[in-house]
Amino acid sequence: MLKGKRGLQKLKLVEKRLKSHADELTALYEVSRSITSSINLDKMLELIVKKVATIVNADVCMIHLLNKNDLVLKTSYGSKRITCRLKGKLPLKGNVMARAVKTKMAIRFSEPRPVKKELFRSLLTVPLIEKENVIGTLTCCCKKACAYTKASEAELSLFASQAAVAIENTRLFEETKLNYLNTMKLLASVIDAKDTHTEDHSERVMRTALDIANILRLPDKQKSVLRYASMLHDIGKIGIDISILSKPAPLTREEWAQMKRHPKVGVDIIKRAGFLDDLIPAILYHHVKYSGGGYPATKKIKSKIPIEARILAIADAYEAMRSDRPYRKRMSRDEAISELKRCSGTQFDPRIVNAFLKYLNR
Ligand SMILES: [Fe+2]
Repeated sequence: MLKGKRGLQKLKLVEKRLKSHADELTALYEVSRSITSSINLDKMLELIVKKVATIVNADVCMIHLLNKNDLVLKTSYGSKRITCRLKGKLPLKGNVMARAVKTKMAIRFSEPRPVKKELFRSLLTVPLIEKENVIGTLTCCCKKACAYTKASEAELSLFASQAAVAIENTRLFEETKLNYLNTMKLLASVIDAKDTHTEDHSERVMRTALDIANILRLPDKQKSVLRYASMLHDIGKIGIDISILSKPAPLTREEWAQMKRHPKVGVDIIKRAGFLDDLIPAILYHHVKYSGGGYPATKKIKSKIPIEARILAIADAYEAMRSDRPYRKRMSRDEAISELKRCSGTQFDPRIVNAFLKYLNR
């Protein structure tokens, strides 16, 4: 039993250590929980550097990822004065992070006396290791001397292993997503081949839709939705018989009823992927008219139809008019432009038609 003033001091020290350990465990738990519930790598890495800066006592914490012969700063937290100096790329030699990559070991140093121009006096860096390969570094810097100990090294290594898991999870997710999209693209080109006799219809619709998105200066996120929605807009035609898709004559009522189901069937296919829900409105409404009507039946009219669907409708119609179909020859450029003008304000959004026509006349 500890007694007296010295005993109290020791108890306080133990309490302080336990509290620090509890803080560290809480931070680790938060990071781990985010890894399992989030798929956004940037946000995950931001969370890691923020937590590390608090727990490991750092003025700056940063993550560099290996890219060929460079270490590229992925994210940083803390003093802007220091991060501004350290941002960008680091060569894979002649610096402490490069040494951590090469040796696969944690490295720490401390400058006992202040050195002019140096922004920090203590540094601790640990390699990020994924399946025995070094993929980057996690680094802490502190303005104080001797800020890091063997214990800080162990703490930082724990966070580094979490960061490596986050990066690996995201990489695997991105790979799965890419494989799925590539399969869908292949499917879209097969559908194009049996539908329009031109295997690259979806590809051309995508290029035109992105041209329009650029004219309208849409943000990157919407452009990305448009890119994939254009590629996959007719994926629902997979269930339609080839005799209907390539019929060189007007469709019967029953055949039209089948054809009109393709946006909804497409959405059902997209939903199964689980990560393409952003594309649903564009695919579902690409045959809905601006002033109402079209298919599927919806109460959404005019500007309430998502802009991606309104752009897709114009790009799809223009590319279809400019292609040979089983029942008609392709229209000339002037004929297609006249048709867009004729349907502007009824079938198509006039603002988007105007922007597109300006682009075509350039
Ligand atoms: Fe369609």
